[in-house]
Amino acid sequence: MKIFSNLLPSNKISIIEELKKQPVPLHVAVIMDGNGRWASERGFPRIVGHKEGVKPLKRIVCLCSDLGIKYLTAYSFSSENWKRPQKEVSGLMQLFFETIASELEELNKNGVRIVLIGNRKMIPRKVLKRFEDAENATKNNNNVILNIAFSYGSRQEILEAARKACTNIKNNEADINDLDEKYFSGLLFTQNCPDPDLLIRTGGELRVSNFLLWQIAYSELYFTKTLWPDFTDAEFLQAIHDYQCRNRRFGKI
Ligand code: IPE
Ligand code: IPE
Ligand code: MG
Repeated sequence: MKIFSNLLPSNKISIIEELKKQPVPLHVAVIMDGNGRWASERGFPRIVGHKEGVKPLKRIVCLCSDLGIKYLTAYSFSSENWKRPQKEVSGLMQLFFETIASELEELNKNGVRIVLIGNRKMIPRKVLKRFEDAENATKNNNNVILNIAFSYGSRQEILEAARKACTNIKNNEADINDLDEKYFSGLLFTQNCPDPDLLIRTGGELRVSNFLLWQIAYSELYFTKTLWPDFTDAEFLQAIHDYQCRNRRFGKI
């Protein structure tokens, strides 16, 4: 099935109903890439692309709710993105600061729980406070769990988990034989959610850029050249449909 790019609201509902007849992913992770290029192509400063990129994220959260996708993890700012020019970093911090506040009411109304995953120590105090206030304000919501990967790097996350495991063993709170995949997964930022079933990357790059390296061991991958601000509902539904056509073997036959 090819889901057409100019999706009409009327057939959107029927496509969603059709997709719901097959198992939908429980957890979708998205690398929202291509904002800068989207803006540059139009002669705008890169920050304009980042601002535009808020819109598809809002739509995808709603689609997850409609489809019954319980977990959405959105890569918003990587640990390596701190190395970008100061002007871009501060523009992004301001954008997050404003967006969390402006979207909170709507997110709450839709039963979305916000969870920040990433290195909190690096985040400017006032931005972190906004995130933590949003986490608190939405902590009882259970419709969609929206993990915002912000100041996030997967290698750092794995190292931190390894440190915690060593500390627990050293303090006799765990035995070395307890250290299996389940125990280790429980030490990661994503401890409360299952591994992603589907990973989507927009923007045309064929790499994972330090995102969820442990968790995507058996995720299905969907890469598209579409720049994130241009990512439509139709393409998201297409990605879900593609996922449903995959044969997930997990090494078995
Ligand atoms: C993704 O878009 C958003 C962030 C990394 C913050 P980019 O800013 O990487 O956009 P491109 O890849 O340069 O077009
Ligand atoms: C990955 O995109 C990070 C986010 C989308 C937040 P980048 O643009 O930072 O990744 P690279 O540098 O192309 O690998
Ligand atoms: Mg990029």
